[in-house]
Amino acid sequence: MDFGGRHIAVTGASTGIGRATALLLASRGARLSLVARGADKLADVTAGIRAKGGEAVHFAADVGDPAALAAAFDAAEAIFGPVHGLFANAGTGGAFGPVAACPDTLFDDVIRVNLTSVFWAMKRVLPAMVEQRSGAIVVTGSLASERGMPGNAAYVASKHGLLGLARAVAAEAAPHGVRVNCVIPGLIETPMLASLDSNATAEELRDRLGPSVPQGRIGSPEEVAELACFLLSDAASHITAQSIAVDGGMLGTLLP
Ligand SMILES: NC(=O)c1ccc[n+]([C@@H]2O[C@H](COP(=O)([O-])OP(=O)(O)OC[C@H]3O[C@@H](n4cnc5c(N)ncnc54)[C@H](OP(=O)(O)O)[C@@H]3O)[C@@H](O)[C@H]2O)c1
Repeated sequence: MDFGGRHIAVTGASTGIGRATALLLASRGARLSLVARGADKLADVTAGIRAKGGEAVHFAADVGDPAALAAAFDAAEAIFGPVHGLFANAGTGGAFGPVAACPDTLFDDVIRVNLTSVFWAMKRVLPAMVEQRSGAIVVTGSLASERGMPGNAAYVASKHGLLGLARAVAAEAAPHGVRVNCVIPGLIETPMLASLDSNATAEELRDRLGPSVPQGRIGSPEEVAELACFLLSDAASHITAQSIAVDGGMLGTLLP
C-alpha cells in the first residue's frame, strides 16, 4: 500500500481517527492536506509527519463554512495538485437530549458539519477525480449510520444521511473510476468518546464501555485508520459503495 505521492485530503485531522489516519497515510507515501478548526493541533500533526520525512500542509477551517472549506481545498491544490483521495472524517457529536427539546439551531449545525460539509467536499473534489478516471473517497459514518439510538436524533439523522450520500455518490462515480466507501467506527478511544463523560478518566471509560463490545474492549483510532487507509488505496480497487465497521463485533451481533 504505497500512495506514491498522491494528494490525500483529511478533514478532522487534528485529533482522534483523522489524526491517526493522516499519520498512517503519510507513512505510506501520501502527500497530505489536513483540515480542522484547531490550528495548533493541526500544526502538531503536520510537524510530526514532516519530522518523519513525510509531506503535509494544514489549513484551519470550519468544514461547516462552505467558503472556508473551499478556500482550504483551493490552497491545498495549489500546493499538491488535484485531490486524489478524500477522507471526509470531521464530525461533531452534537448533544444528548430528547428530540422535543433539541433546538433547531443545534439540529442544523450537526447536519451541516456531519453531512452537508461532506456533500460540499465531494462536489469540490469529484470533477478532477472523474476527469482523471481515478480517485477514492472515504467518509466516517457511525453505528448511528446503521442503527437508531435514543437521545441524539440530529447525530443519528446526520450519520444515516452521510451513508446515503456515500452510497448515492458511489453509484454515480463508479463508471468513472472513482470509489466511495464509509467506515463505521464502533466505540473508539478519541476526544469525542471522552466527551461522553468529562469527569471519567480514560481508564474508567475503557472499563465502563468495554463490556458492551463483543471483543470486550473499545477500539483505537489506529485500528480505524488501517481500514480508512486501505479503502483509500488501490488495494481496495474493486470495493465501492460499502460500509464497513471497525467495532469489535457490535453491529453484527446481539450480546446475551
Ligand atoms: N470515537 C468514536 O467512538 C466514534 C464513533 C462513531 C463515529 N465517530 C466519528 O469519527 C469521526 C472522527 O471523530 P473522533 O472520534 O476521531 O473524534 P475527535 O478526536 O473529536 O475528532 C473530530 C475531528 O473533527 C474535527 N471537527 C469537528 N468539528 C469540525 C468543524 N466544524 N470543522 C472542521 N473540523 C471539525 C475536530 O477538530 P477541531 O475540533 O480542531 O475542529 C477533530 O479533528 C467523527 O465523524 C465521528 O462522528 C467516532
